[in-house]
Amino acid sequence: MLVIAHRGASGYAPENSHSAICRALEMNVDAIEIDLHSVEGELLVIHDRWLHRTTQARGQLKDYTLAQLREIDAGDGKPIPTLWEVLQLVDGRCDLNLELKCEHTLIPTLKNLDQAVNALNFTPNQFLISSFNHHLLNESVSLQPKFATGALIASCPIDYAAFAQQLGCYAIHLDIDFINQAFVDDAKARGLKVFVYTVDEESDIRYLEELGVDGIFSNYPDKALRAVKRL
Ligand code: G3P
Ligand code: CA
Repeated sequence: MLVIAHRGASGYAPENSHSAICRALEMNVDAIEIDLHSVEGELLVIHDRWLHRTTQARGQLKDYTLAQLREIDAGDGKPIPTLWEVLQLVDGRCDLNLELKCEHTLIPTLKNLDQAVNALNFTPNQFLISSFNHHLLNESVSLQPKFATGALIASCPIDYAAFAQQLGCYAIHLDIDFINQAFVDDAKARGLKVFVYTVDEESDIRYLEELGVDGIFSNYPDKALRAVKRL
């Protein structure tokens, strides 16, 4: 079962910050998940479009220019990172899951990933593009099938796995509240990987391992690695 650092090692450092990515790399995680918003064609690594939860700033991303946003502290004394900065920092040392949080993120993400494959130490199969916006995933598969996609879902509708399979997804990413054995078996029979968020409790980790889940997103990836006996 893969261990994916959720928003970096966000239990130990401000989420989606340079420090959270570094902490996750130190833990030798399998992958790091980050959230992406687009501003003036640039990709910022931040979860919310509102700034107040994770920074000292007020208002929304759209209220600022990119240059102004780059002055804002992400909580670790460093600016809100760009996708390219994270790609340079990780440089192929683990896989990356890019969660597209809003429209206009797909095209610049694909450009960044292509550039990372050409100029850094990544291979295309180290990237997984995910989103709750399944239109973006559909577009991603048609534009750039070499990058795998993961369909995020926060509920458990009937035939969801069939839908993700039709979309050409590599994986489905489910909330732990909605997972069960029948769903995992159905998804796997359709050739889909199953990743579950957000998993921080040891008993949950063991339960998901028993279900045969392929990966978990954790804010405490070191705890998760210990629980799956890899630390
Ligand atoms: O990608 C898994 C998980 O991060 C999705 O939900 O709200 O934490 O971005 P959220
Ligand atoms: Ca996320």
